[in-house]
Amino acid sequence: MVHLTLRQLKVFDAVARHLSYSRAAEALHLTQPAVSMQIKQLEENAGVPLFEQLGKKIYLTEAGQEFLRYTSTILQQLADAEAMFADFKGMSGKLSICVASTASYFTPLLLAEFCHRHPKAKVSLNVTNREILLQRLANNEMDMAIMGRPPEELDLDATPFMENHLAIIAPVNHPLASVKNIPLSRLSEETFLVREKGSGTRIAMERFFADQKIRLTTGTEMSTNEAIKQAVQAGMGLGILSMHTMQLELEMKRLSVLDVQSFPIQRRWYVVHRQGKRLGIVAQAFKEFLLTEGAVLAGEIRE
Ligand code: PGA
Repeated sequence: MVHLTLRQLKVFDAVARHLSYSRAAEALHLTQPAVSMQIKQLEENAGVPLFEQLGKKIYLTEAGQEFLRYTSTILQQLADAEAMFADFKGMSGKLSICVASTASYFTPLLLAEFCHRHPKAKVSLNVTNREILLQRLANNEMDMAIMGRPPEELDLDATPFMENHLAIIAPVNHPLASVKNIPLSRLSEETFLVREKGSGTRIAMERFFADQKIRLTTGTEMSTNEAIKQAVQAGMGLGILSMHTMQLELEMKRLSVLDVQSFPIQRRWYVVHRQGKRLGIVAQAFKEFLLTEGAVLAGEIRE
């Protein structure tokens, strides 16, 4: 078997590109005799001449030309592997993200996968509602946020990566639970439990009913999705929540999603950071991960 060393490949590649032993030696920081020696050994190993000298010039033989195609590929792959190691080393940085409370239903799953791929990444996750999140973004207190569409007037870079559907939930024994195509107007006879002011879910719900010119009766205000689900199950009223929050309750048949005209309300999840923010290598990788794979991975816990 032909015994080739990596050093021989590198020397061959340099000589073949420069077609000169002296310039190859210069490029490789070697002496010219050292370069000639490497080529001589390589040709002995290969068993065929790779260069020929005509006058003062050297040329690649046919075998040399073919061999150059292989060495280019091998050396390029080595360079790629080196770049990959560098990336992995860089991945030991930090990522701090802040998510709207509703996004906390799928973010841990995405973080788990990301940390599995980049075990050295140190991630901190902060969960809060939309309003506080916007304040924190303004104060530059995090790398990025996951939230509903942020207001245009803020200097933010926001890219959508996944759908977010808001549905009406009722206890399983509610008279509307088995009704199909419920008209929107019928909702005025019900009482709705609502999220706190500053919640994206609440804003979307208010905007929707204002657009539809329907007046809702709202009951108790609650600051978490969990509290609303419990209160709906207990019969305190109906609720409007993201489908991301209720997978378990639907599977366990503890809640029903009502079939109401124009529902679900269509929202989207955005990855958001300040414009011009210099994202570190881990933050950049996480953003890329969200945009390319987020929706598919989190899809398991969607409708
Ligand atoms: P939340 O959701 O603030 O209601 O938790 C975020 C959003 O939908 O924007």
